[in-house]
Amino acid sequence: MRILLTRKLHEFAMKELKKRYDVYVHNGAIPMPKGKLLSKTSQIDGLICFPYDMIDKEIIANAKKLKVISTYSVGYDHIDLQKAKSRKIKIGYTPDVLTNATADLTVALLLDSMRRITEGDRIIRSGDWKVVFGPHDYVGSDLEGKTVGIFGMGRIGRAVAKRIRPFGMEITYHSRNRLPENEGKKLNAKYVSLDELFEKSDAVTIHIPYTKDTHGIVNACLLKKMKKNSHLINTSRGKIINEKDLIRALRSKWIAGAALDVFEKEPIGKNHELVKIKNAILAPHIGSSTAETRKKMAEITIKNLIYGLEGKKMVYSVNLD
Ligand code: DGY
Repeated sequence: MRILLTRKLHEFAMKELKKRYDVYVHNGAIPMPKGKLLSKTSQIDGLICFPYDMIDKEIIANAKKLKVISTYSVGYDHIDLQKAKSRKIKIGYTPDVLTNATADLTVALLLDSMRRITEGDRIIRSGDWKVVFGPHDYVGSDLEGKTVGIFGMGRIGRAVAKRIRPFGMEITYHSRNRLPENEGKKLNAKYVSLDELFEKSDAVTIHIPYTKDTHGIVNACLLKKMKKNSHLINTSRGKIINEKDLIRALRSKWIAGAALDVFEKEPIGKNHELVKIKNAILAPHIGSSTAETRKKMAEITIKNLIYGLEGKKMVYSVNLD
């Protein structure tokens, strides 16, 4: 069987794949240009892709022999699920193993935004730290007693809740599904409406999947409801936030700050509007980027592909029903 990887994975993973398949690895421009992706996918049985590869209707329709798509990510919004379902193509993904890493980064960004760490680092590097220890210099915000609003209480949302409890923060959440009562109690998390989440929180952190219904859901209307001294954290998908509205919110001081690991279009360059904004902390989509997690993701990605092609149950497959 023939497989395509749109980018090389860890050596151990490549070895396993090469033992079994005729492997083609794209090693040119990232993402793989559409024309090349179209032509290569027309000849393959299995595909390993990344969250920036758009596996759309056209690609799937053209990939006549394709049986399995295995994405090196928990998100699968880059794959046309309806089209894959109509072609009975199985889809594997990598949840669970990246929950802790992504939750850790979320808390790091929350602390950074509330305590202005990156901003201080920029001040020192640019030679602007001239006077020491002023009562009003670089003041951030206490965490204890503040309210965090978790938008999306899935695996990552719950892992974030667990981590922030010891800081003495109140936890509220809004999610498609409410937590079972005992779990809500265990996490000390109170369910609120979406409006209330944005109105009452001192920091809102986003952990919902990107779909056509969540596209731009965090817009001017919600941002205007937020407290002036509040913060917005996003480690899920950039397109959930209307970026133009967020830029207005930060410039006009509707909110105190934002810390973002994801953007509408990635990567962003140094001339991006967000780069010019002082109260924005920007990370290059590193939610799952720890050595341990990325290795586990590679293990699952290849297992999903191998099991799928062998007609076995994948470690994690997307439910297409
Ligand atoms: C994913 O796996 O979808 C994440 O965005 C990676 O950090």
